[in-house]
Amino acid sequence: MSLAVVILAAGQGTRMRSDVPKVLHPLAGESMLSYVIDVARQLEPEQINIVYGFEGEKLKEKFDSSDITWSHQSEQLGTGHALAQAMPSVSKNSEILVMCGDTPLITLQSIKALFHKKYNEQVTLLTSVVEDPKNYGRIIRNNSGSIESIIEERDATESEKLIKEVNTGIMRLPANGLKGWLKKIDINNKQKEFYLTDVVSLAVKDGYQVNGVILDDESEALGINDRYDLAIAERIIQSRNASMLLDFGATLIDPDRFDLRGELTIGKDVVIDVNAIFEGNVILKDRVKIGPNVVIRNSQLGNDCQVLENSVLDGVTAGNNCIIGPFARLRPDSYLENNVKVGNFVEIKKSNISSKSKINHLSYIGDTIVGEKVNIGAGTVTCNYDGDKKHQTTIGDDVFIGSGTMLVAPIEVGKSATIAAGSTITKNAPADQLTLARGKQVTIKSWKRPKKKN
Ligand code: UD1
Ligand code: CA
Repeated sequence: MSLAVVILAAGQGTRMRSDVPKVLHPLAGESMLSYVIDVARQLEPEQINIVYGFEGEKLKEKFDSSDITWSHQSEQLGTGHALAQAMPSVSKNSEILVMCGDTPLITLQSIKALFHKKYNEQVTLLTSVVEDPKNYGRIIRNNSGSIESIIEERDATESEKLIKEVNTGIMRLPANGLKGWLKKIDINNKQKEFYLTDVVSLAVKDGYQVNGVILDDESEALGINDRYDLAIAERIIQSRNASMLLDFGATLIDPDRFDLRGELTIGKDVVIDVNAIFEGNVILKDRVKIGPNVVIRNSQLGNDCQVLENSVLDGVTAGNNCIIGPFARLRPDSYLENNVKVGNFVEIKKSNISSKSKINHLSYIGDTIVGEKVNIGAGTVTCNYDGDKKHQTTIGDDVFIGSGTMLVAPIEVGKSATIAAGSTITKNAPADQLTLARGKQVTIKSWKRPKKKN
């Protein structure tokens, strides 16, 4: 039987109090819907059908792909009504897996449990026994333990509210039965909505067996309805990320203060201090040490590199044994060869720093090629921008740039040259020699400092 996964994602998410559709809110840097689509794709279904509605064009734009069918729900009349919008594009002989766009923590493994062959041609719900069942639909079982219906929180009696087994919103159903049941559901409930959950009792009436597969890990069931849920889900994903890194052999000084929004690949004996944030694609080779409060985005650091506290790296490729920070900012296209030192309050952009060179304090290096064993003094600025274009600076091997030097690009400093501190260099400086470009020091003997009268 062919499988169609239908993802319900048309709701506004009123409780989020947002202009952004709920399912587009990010978790660990990715919208929550993308997690659900990922799991759906791994099931390799015939069809992935997303029911969209509120600000739905934004969803279509973001997830536009040939393997997704879109069903529009123009008015959000409930989950049953939402699923009904997808039915015309689902073949009668297929089976349907319903997922919710606002339940992103569910794992592939848990969903697969619904596809055991003993559940074929029946109705099977993924349920969860939770500590706090508030706001979820309760699973009503009869005396012999089989499922009879689902009662929503607002329609539940006080004793039904005590039930801790809840509906995760994920269910596997045969399309031919479902088409009939969806036609029968009504809005005779507290929310005046077409509840998808009402198909359960209709299936039972039609003689179907309704099974409940209980999740092992209740955190997977978390449906995100408000910003509290979103914050909790974020921490769950981050603690999953942290566990994975610990398994791979990283030291996390505090796994509760670690954030990964993308992919992090690590070598051996990597140490990550508190409040580090990794975004995009980051690779840390063996023995890399990341200090506290560091942000690293789309970067790769070689063996034994150290990033000291409060540094921001974006688009950096570093060789082995570099020391960066504290308080360094490295912007896209910064390439550091081996044994480079970049110190505090140094900004680097689109530059190549060759091995054993040092830029230790308070400098801006942009559009620059720096040779090997160069020492760049404190407060050096490559003046790369003339208000219109960016210009290149080239600094040869073994150059010594004195503190407070302005290098007005385009400019070249020859191999082994020395630039005197405080120079403003506007012409190429020759190799091996000392170049000075600064005003002469004078002392005015008769000068008196003005004094305040009283
Ligand atoms: C729903 C279930 C509840 C379950 C819970 C799990 C129903 C009636 N209730 O409740 O039993 O415990 O999920 O998280 O099904 N949606 C639409 N169109 C609509 C309404 C909703 O597409 O008209 C989508 C939403 O975008 C969301 C999903 O359906 O992704 C669930 O809707 P929501 O309103 O959050 O349902 P809950 O009240 O959480
Ligand atoms: Ca929900």
